Amino acid sequence: MRMRPLERWLLSTRIRAWLLRRIEAPRLLPRLHLPPNPRCLEIGCGNGVGAMVLSARLHPDRLVCTDIDPDMLRRARRMLASPPRWARGADTSQIELLQADAADLPFADASFDAVFLFGVLHHIRDWPAALAETYRLLPPGGVFAFSEALLGGSPLLLNRFWRHVPFGRDELSAALEDAGFRIERFRTIAAGMWCFVIARRP
Ligand SMILES: C[S@@+](CC[C@H](N)C(=O)[O-])C[C@H]1O[C@@H](n2cnc3c(N)ncnc32)[C@H](O)[C@@H]1O
Repeated sequence: MRMRPLERWLLSTRIRAWLLRRIEAPRLLPRLHLPPNPRCLEIGCGNGVGAMVLSARLHPDRLVCTDIDPDMLRRARRMLASPPRWARGADTSQIELLQADAADLPFADASFDAVFLFGVLHHIRDWPAALAETYRLLPPGGVFAFSEALLGGSPLLLNRFWRHVPFGRDELSAALEDAGFRIERFRTIAAGMWCFVIARRP
């Protein structure tokens, strides 16, 4: 779903980059037990902060970053061409940007060792379909690591205004298990409104 201009602007601020680098990535990336130089996919890459962080911290053999919105991909392309100071060490040459819907990704089964997303599912009306697609793209043992907003308890009007899709912890856990994942870690912060999840394809 297309975001409101205000949310697009918020994503382009230093605060968003700081949160992803300092709060989200450190809670997910050190716990994954990935093979060296893994094949990675990021869904809903926005303006490219996650791509830079994944590249710098995981040194992937291949990193594909997708988004449904061509405008966000343009922003990501600009960031890769001219990385901010904190990302100067990242090797951007192996990053591929691609326009694609999270529920219908153009890759063969088991194409990636790890799939990531940062704050994306609450923008997708049929988010359980995106979970099923993610599962398909992982081999047995493959990992799905993400941070996500849990908006099931937030006011309906607020969710309507932001065009957010609300779901809570129980709904998300059940949908992950229905898709076939085994949940290894599920932590929340901000009074339960934001979560960090590591799930694996058994
Ligand atoms: C809140 S932004 C997060 C962007 C980035 N991951 C970050 O943390 O800064 C949500 C992103 O998901 C993308 N998105 C929304 N629906 C999508 C879909 N069906 N498939 C892929 N990306 C989608 C939006 O275009 C947007 O870039």
